[in-house]
Amino acid sequence: MMKLSRSLVTIAVVGMAAAQNKTTVSISVPSNMSTRILAPDVYGYSIEPVWLDSYLNTSLASTLLGSIANVTGKGTPIRVGGNTADQTYLYPSSPLPLTGTDSAAIPDALTATRFNITPRCWANAVAEAQAAYAGLGDSLVAFELGNEIDHFINKGWRDASWGVKTYIEQFRNLTGQITGSGWYQALAATSNSTHNNKKKTPTFQAAVFADPPLVPDQQDEIDDFSIANLTAGGITLRPEEKNIISSYAVHLYPQSTCDTPRWYRLRLDLLSDHSVLWKNVSQYIPQVAAADAAGAPLVIGETNSASCSGKSGISDTFGAALWGVDYVLTAASIGIEKVYFHLGARSEYSSFTPLPYTLKNETLVPGIRAGWYAHYFLARVVSSKNRNCGGGKRSEFHIAALPSANSSSLSGFAVYSQNDDVKKGVRHAGGKELRKLVFLDMGVWNGTEGLANPSTLSATDGTMFSEGTRPVSTFEVTTPWAQGATVKVVRLAAPGTNAKSNVSVAGTVFDDETGEPAVGGEGAQLGDEYSEIIEVGAAGILRFDVQRAEGVLLEVGGDETSVGCGDDGDHDDSQHESTPGTSGTLRAEAPTSGSEPNIDPSMSEQSQVGEPGSGATGAGVNTGAGTTREKTDAEIEADRLYEEAMEEEYAKREGGA
Ligand SMILES: *[C@@H]1O[C@H](CO)[C@@H](O)[C@H](O)[C@H]1NC(C)=O
Ligand SMILES: *[C@@H]1O[C@H](CO)[C@@H](O)[C@H](O)[C@H]1NC(C)=O
Ligand SMILES: *[C@@H]1O[C@H](CO)[C@@H](O)[C@H](O)[C@H]1NC(C)=O
Ligand SMILES: *[C@@H]1O[C@H](CO)[C@@H](O)[C@H](O)[C@H]1NC(C)=O
Ligand SMILES: *[C@@H]1O[C@H](CO)[C@@H](O)[C@H](O)[C@H]1NC(C)=O
Ligand SMILES: *[C@@H]1O[C@H](CO)[C@@H](O)[C@H](O)[C@H]1NC(C)=O
Ligand SMILES: *[C@@H]1O[C@H](CO)[C@@H](O)[C@H](O)[C@H]1NC(C)=O
Ligand SMILES: *[C@@H]1O[C@H](CO)[C@@H](O)[C@H](O)[C@H]1NC(C)=O
Ligand SMILES: *[C@@H]1O[C@H](CO)[C@@H](O)[C@H](O)[C@H]1NC(C)=O
Ligand SMILES: *[C@@H]1O[C@H](CO)[C@@H](O)[C@H](O)[C@H]1NC(C)=O
Ligand SMILES: *[C@@H]1O[C@H](CO)[C@@H](O)[C@H](O)[C@H]1NC(C)=O
Ligand SMILES: *[C@@H]1O[C@H](CO)[C@@H](O)[C@H](O)[C@H]1NC(C)=O
Repeated sequence: MMKLSRSLVTIAVVGMAAAQNKTTVSISVPSNMSTRILAPDVYGYSIEPVWLDSYLNTSLASTLLGSIANVTGKGTPIRVGGNTADQTYLYPSSPLPLTGTDSAAIPDALTATRFNITPRCWANAVAEAQAAYAGLGDSLVAFELGNEIDHFINKGWRDASWGVKTYIEQFRNLTGQITGSGWYQALAATSNSTHNNKKKTPTFQAAVFADPPLVPDQQDEIDDFSIANLTAGGITLRPEEKNIISSYAVHLYPQSTCDTPRWYRLRLDLLSDHSVLWKNVSQYIPQVAAADAAGAPLVIGETNSASCSGKSGISDTFGAALWGVDYVLTAASIGIEKVYFHLGARSEYSSFTPLPYTLKNETLVPGIRAGWYAHYFLARVVSSKNRNCGGGKRSEFHIAALPSANSSSLSGFAVYSQNDDVKKGVRHAGGKELRKLVFLDMGVWNGTEGLANPSTLSATDGTMFSEGTRPVSTFEVTTPWAQGATVKVVRLAAPGTNAKSNVSVAGTVFDDETGEPAVGGEGAQLGDEYSEIIEVGAAGILRFDVQRAEGVLLEVGGDETSVGCGDDGDHDDSQHESTPGTSGTLRAEAPTSGSEPNIDPSMSEQSQVGEPGSGATGAGVNTGAGTTREKTDAEIEADRLYEEAMEEEYAKREGGA
């Protein structure tokens, strides 16, 4: 009976296919693909320091990230850093000066070029590191020393001799001071104790380069920075240095609003394009190899669709959401273990914004943009909640990109678990078990619904619409899965590439004001909802439809319940966990400063190695030990030139709009 009714359904589908002129896409899943780790916290955020307060001021971020933690069992990593970290000025006392663009401690959205703090906030790198630990405790994972350090010559913060050699000297000096300080040593002693309760000493995220290796016309200055040069230059020469570096970071923005030439090259269909994305991400393959060889993974420490705050109409559309999913999975498949999406409370590329504000003559309300749904969809991809977890363990997932789903408009991935905790009877391949498949139709379909989102600029709502009927493809995927096995389908869907609202994941939508999920599917719990259930056919062939501009996750073994398979056994002890659902800032990677206490004065003079508490101050330069000296003329001039350049960039941006 079952077989009969299924074949009737198949016939009906074939009939529909003919009527709709469907194309068939055949995909195979090679059994011998090499895979890379797919971490449960592969998707992170990077928050610009001036906007941290805004994100912490409402419950939107904590509610949204609480949902992610509930699904993945792991907090979302947050890196605090960015441009305004490099422009953080320490004032000896309140009140902060009220002049020009730095008219307030929390600057205006588009004119924010600097961020003023008092010593009550932070003092210098070493004290700052201690303060960060005191404030964040176990949530603190790592420090960065400087932001986009391969722009420091151009910004006038280092002379032409700045390069790998001097960087390593300064990195070594600062990390040495931080790890040598009392609080760090005390923590290290605790973590050595037999009562080890997972307390770990914070590590360092090294490098933090901005320039894309293979796009010479976007490189700000000539220097010798690359991960390969850094590791060859001996950054981990000493064993203790290898232990404290937990990752190497690079930044990547495929498009940009920062200057006029790139403003005119901004395009939504270049974002929702897997071949373009591959070009952008694959340029880091040699850097991944260098980082791996040095014993720590490469991460994209700061990224988004377009630099200088993004572009509404591109950055806040469903096309950007598909790009986000493709980006994170493509990066993971080549060994980039985490991708941190930059957030500003008034940035056009932010996945969600917590407070109302005025931008370009429009009043925008707080809300959730399409990009958020990429994060939630990815949470479903990395979640091991729904699988059999008999051993009390969540499974470690690995990922490979599928060679037969690799064009501008199609991207596909296979997700595996190691077979050490696999249920008996499930088929294995190459020591790994295929658990999930992800397919992204990146083709552009401009629909007529969901065009507006009151948290985005209405001036950029879609006005170009695709003609005809939205195409649908039938996928025929040859899998190693057994005939008759059930497969849960989770769709990331929207009315079109141009949609700014009406985006959903398996029918689940998040309330724009509160961030609370309204879970699709009768009686389903967050993380257990699905769009439909299908069955594996003869010879392991799985058939399903995908419409143009849609993401699909397929998960085998869908009818196993997850009860009792909580987050009690995450294998990854290298990062600290917080209890899911308790806080939005579940883990933080707080940058520390390159303020240079007690070090070579010649470095101190040129230096503002980024991040809150940077050595240079408005009233003078921090010389360490809590005192300041007057800024040199060269420093004042460098600051002036930088601010002028920033203002010019923003002016161009407005002009181009
Ligand atoms: C079916 O699709 C193909 C390829 O997109 C197109 O060339 C053809 O004209 C379509 N046929 C019909 C009947 O719509
Ligand atoms: C997998 O096997 C195929 C067919 O034998 C071969 O062409 C391909 O190079 C192999 N790929 C890897 C990654 O080993
Ligand atoms: C955050 O909330 C506090 C207390 O309500 C308020 O004083 C502060 O201005 C708020 N900050 C922002 C950025 O809205
Ligand atoms: C996370 O799960 C806990 C326990 O089921 C629940 O109380 C909490 O509301 C959930 N949080 C979110 C944001 O869904
Ligand atoms: C911690 O243990 C390691 C290895 O046993 C040792 O080298 C290190 O000195 C210890 N650190 C402290 C602070 O006790
Ligand atoms: C790496 O260092 C070499 C030797 O100094 C230099 O020629 C090369 O340009 C550097 N690579 C990068 C990407 O800067
Ligand atoms: C991304 O790729 C596109 C297409 O090749 C290119 O125009 C753009 O400059 C690239 N951006 C970066 C940062 O690599
Ligand atoms: C905002 O409104 C002013 C006054 O009507 C106008 O001059 C300006 O061009 C507008 N700016 C934008 C970005 O629309
Ligand atoms: C996808 O295509 C690009 C460009 O042709 C190629 O370099 C890459 O290796 C392909 N990826 C896979 C998984 O086959
Ligand atoms: C879809 O709309 C975007 C802007 O919303 C536009 O750039 C693109 O050219 C449109 N594409 C098609 C095929 O209509
Ligand atoms: C589409 O989104 C708008 C704005 O959020 C909402 O009012 C409307 O109910 C949504 N429509 C559907 C069909 O979900
Ligand atoms: C850092 O450099 C200063 C000045 O050269 C030196 O006195 C100090 O010992 C160095 N500290 C470390 C930990 O290397």
